Amino acid sequence: MSELESLNEQLDRLREQALQDFAAAAGLDELEQLRVRYLGKKGKLTEVLKGVGRLAPEQRPLIGKVVNEIKQLLAEALAGRERELQAVAEQQRIEAERIDVTLPGRKLPQGAIHPVQQGLEEMTAIFRQLGFTVAEGPEIEDEFHNFDALNIQPEHPARAMHDTFFFADGHLLRTHTSPVQIRAMQSLIKRGGTPPVAVVAPGRVYRCDYDMTHSPMFHQVEVFQVGRDISMAHLKGVLKFFLSSYFGKALPIRLRPSYFPFTEPSAEVDIGCVFCDGKGCRVCKQTGWLEVLGSGMIHPNVLQAVGIDHREYSGFAFGLGVERLVMLKHGIPDLRLFFENDVRFLRRMGS
Ligand code: PHE
Repeated sequence: MSELESLNEQLDRLREQALQDFAAAAGLDELEQLRVRYLGKKGKLTEVLKGVGRLAPEQRPLIGKVVNEIKQLLAEALAGRERELQAVAEQQRIEAERIDVTLPGRKLPQGAIHPVQQGLEEMTAIFRQLGFTVAEGPEIEDEFHNFDALNIQPEHPARAMHDTFFFADGHLLRTHTSPVQIRAMQSLIKRGGTPPVAVVAPGRVYRCDYDMTHSPMFHQVEVFQVGRDISMAHLKGVLKFFLSSYFGKALPIRLRPSYFPFTEPSAEVDIGCVFCDGKGCRVCKQTGWLEVLGSGMIHPNVLQAVGIDHREYSGFAFGLGVERLVMLKHGIPDLRLFFENDVRFLRRMGS
């Protein structure tokens, strides 16, 4: 066999083998390895071409032509197989990413408004309906707003360390929302305004207390109105409207004489027991009445402290415990349930 024939035969074999191997390649990686093996710089084709040196010069172009044809043929075969394998890979990817739209959805637990927040919002809304303006004050207060301006004397027991959380610098966590009375009236006067003024002030308050009916943090709603000729009749009218709206039924109310340093006269407010309709039960201790809040006519000293002339203006004020009212409305037995954050309770009560 001549050198030329032998080379041609080698090339034929190489071509056939390459075509077979390409067709058998199972993946793109394997195909790339085959490309390097056959067509790479140190590949089989290059190997065969080394024999060209042994050919007579006039025979070399013939082989060159054959080699170019083989190169082209193999390149096309490679590209074709590559497309096939890509299509297979794509198909596999689509299979793997297939979304089963018939699977039931995953339920996200839904949040709800905390019953105390819910109560605050309901109560505030009732006073807004009556034309009261919403105001808020800081939870970290000073002694002036929390005590002095409210006519609470330095010797008053509320000022004792065991009732009030004090900071080292003399600030304190407000023990009630009544300081917002002071702040709201002060800002009215500072703006050059004069009464009438009617404010509802919801917020958090703090006392050093903890049991079934007391929490160191709880919520109050403060309500007050100052104007000419404001009397206890206005107080009673607003109370009756508010309590009946909140409990969703006409409730009898009763004012009992009481004492707060910042009101004179002062009254404790009772509602007819919502559990027995006043007939007497365990909750109302057979009295038929439930105590719900403290109230009174704003003390002249308080008006004076904010620069309002008490001979010209008078006002009423009351402050209620939000948790207590929510407990009564929904029959919740223990105040601590509000703050333990047991989801079973929150789910049942939340809205
Ligand atoms: N601040 C009083 C308390 O926390 C409640 C109150 C407010 C009483 C306004 C009278 C008038 O107990």
